[in-house]
Amino acid sequence: MVKFLDLISGEMKRGFSLAGYDEDLGKVTLSNRPDLCEYQCNGAMAGAKKYHKAPIAIAGEVAQQLADSEVFEDVSAVAPGFLNLKLKDSFVRDYVAQMAEAEKFGLNPPEKEKTIVVDYGGPNVAKPLHVGHLRSAVIGESIKRICRYNGHRVIGDVHLGDWGLQMGLIITELKERKPELVYFDETFDGEYPAEAPFTVSELEEIYPTASGKSKEDPAYKEAALQATLELQRGRKGYRALWKHIIDVSVADLKKNYAELNVEFDLWKGESDVDPLIPGLVERLKEQGLAHESEGALVVDVREETDTKEIPPCIILKSDGAALYATTDLATIQDRMENLHADELIYLTDKRQEMHFLQVFRVARKAGLVKPETRLRHIGFGTMNGKDGKPFKTREGGVMRLEYLVRDIDEEMYRKVVESRQDISEEEARKTAKIIGLSALKYGDLSNQASKDYIFDIDRFTSFEGDTGPYILYTIVRIKSILNRYREMGGQLSGLAFRDPENAPQKDLMMQLAGFNAMMENAGQEAAPHKVCAYIYDLANAFNKFYHETKIISEEDRERKGSWIALLILTRDVLETCIDVLGFSAPDRM
Ligand code: ARG
Repeated sequence: MVKFLDLISGEMKRGFSLAGYDEDLGKVTLSNRPDLCEYQCNGAMAGAKKYHKAPIAIAGEVAQQLADSEVFEDVSAVAPGFLNLKLKDSFVRDYVAQMAEAEKFGLNPPEKEKTIVVDYGGPNVAKPLHVGHLRSAVIGESIKRICRYNGHRVIGDVHLGDWGLQMGLIITELKERKPELVYFDETFDGEYPAEAPFTVSELEEIYPTASGKSKEDPAYKEAALQATLELQRGRKGYRALWKHIIDVSVADLKKNYAELNVEFDLWKGESDVDPLIPGLVERLKEQGLAHESEGALVVDVREETDTKEIPPCIILKSDGAALYATTDLATIQDRMENLHADELIYLTDKRQEMHFLQVFRVARKAGLVKPETRLRHIGFGTMNGKDGKPFKTREGGVMRLEYLVRDIDEEMYRKVVESRQDISEEEARKTAKIIGLSALKYGDLSNQASKDYIFDIDRFTSFEGDTGPYILYTIVRIKSILNRYREMGGQLSGLAFRDPENAPQKDLMMQLAGFNAMMENAGQEAAPHKVCAYIYDLANAFNKFYHETKIISEEDRERKGSWIALLILTRDVLETCIDVLGFSAPDRM
C-alpha cells in the first residue's frame, strides 16, 4: 500500500502544482502543534525565496486549490506562511479499512529480497551467559525478526566462541583433575565414550579456575597454550574432549536462550572456519595486502579521509597464531560463499567498533565481499545499574543472565499475585514469566542501541509508562473487551469501519495508519527502538479512545461493530510489533 504520509504529501504536491509552484514543495509532516492541526506543510516558506513572493500568499493560493480535496477537510494558510492541515474523516477511515484487509497491514514487500546474516549472541563455550550477553541477544533477535517481517531472507548465526586459548585452559585443568581419562592417553585408539566426563556446572567452574591459575602460574599457562596448539593441530583425544565441551555447553546455552525467546538458525562457531584460514592468509599475501611488521602479518587499512588513527589489522601473530580478526574474515568468506549474503549485521558491544572497522576494510580490499555487500556493525552501549556504572550483582560481581531473568520473574510474580487473588500458583508463574520477558526486552529495546541505559527493575516492571508490561496490559485489555463482546453474542467478522466520531478515535486510526512506514523504516535502519516508540504511542492512543468510549454498552450495532473492528486491528498490530521485538502477551494479567 502507498504509505499514508505519501498519500497526504501527494495531495499537497498536487495543490502546489495546480497553483503553479514546484510540486516538491508539498512535503507534509506530522504537526508539531497537535493542538492546532494534524499535519503541516512548510513548503510555502521554502518557496518564498524562489518565487519572490510572500510565503503567506503562496500558502493562500495552494489552500484555495485544495478547497475540495478528498484528503483534506481543512487546509489553512496561517502567518507567516504555514499550511495547517486536517484530514477528512472518510480518508482516514478508508485507509484503515484497506490496511485491515491488506497483507501485513499494507507493508510493502522490499524492492529486492536480500539475504541478511545477523551475527548475534556471540557466547563463549564453557562460560556462563552474563548480563554482557543480554543486549546482543535481545537486539539481534529483534533485528532478525524485523528484517524477516520486512520480507528478507534472514539467517541468525550465534557465532560461538569455541576456539582458542579458553579451550586449552579447560583441557589443561581437566588433565590435572582427571589424568586417568582416556582422552589424555595418546596410545588409545578405540572409540571415545559418548558421555561427557563432566556436567555443565563443573564446566562452568573449571573455566574460571583454569583462567585464574594461568594468570599466576606461567607453567600452567604454557601447558594451556600447548594444549590449544595440539587441539588445533588435531590431536584426537583433545578433539573428542573439545566436542564434549561444546555439546554440553551448547545444550545449556540453548536452554538459556530459549528462556529469552531467542532462537538461532545456525550454531556455527569460530572453529568452523579454521580450515579456511591458511587459504585466506595465502590470498592476502598474494594480493600484496598482507605484509610483515614486527614479526606479525598485518594488512594496512588506513584511508586518507580518516580523522583518527586506524591501526593495521593483525592477521597472524609473530608466533603464527590466527586472531579474532582472522576468524572474522574467514567467516565473512564463508558467509559469502555458502550463504550468498547481501548484507551482514553484527551485534556486539560498541567497544568492538575498531575491530569491525578493520575487518570490514580488509574484507573490501581483499574482495571477500562484493562492492554492494552491506557490512554493518551495530555497537551497543552498556547496561548500567542505578549507580550509573556497569550493572553488577549486589556483591559487585558479574551477574549471570539466568539470575537477572529470575529476579525480574520474581518481581513480576509478586505484582501478578498482588493484583489478582483468583489466580493459581501455576498460572501466576507462567504469566509472570511472559510479562517479565516483556519488561526486560522492552527496557532494553526502547533505547537506541548505541546508548547506555540504566537497568531499573522497578521502572521496567511497572504497568504504567513506557514499559513492556504497559504494552501487554493494553493488549490484554483489548482481548478482554473482545471476549466480553463475543460472550454477548457479538460477531467478529464482517465488521465495517466507520468514520471516526471524535478526536481520540481519529487519533487512534491515524496512529494505526503509520504502521507500514514505521516498520519499513525500522527494518532499513535496523532499529527496534522505532517499533517500541510506535507501539507506545499506539497504546496511548488506544487507551485514550477506550476511556472515552463505552464500547460494550453501545446499542447501535454498526457503531459498536466499527469500534470492535478498530480493536481487532489495534490488537493485531500491537501483537505483530511485540512479536518482532521478541516477546508475547498473555491472555490475562
Ligand atoms: N565471542 C565474542 C565475544 O565474546 C563475540 C563475537 C561477536 N561476533 C563476531 N563475529 N565477532 O566478544
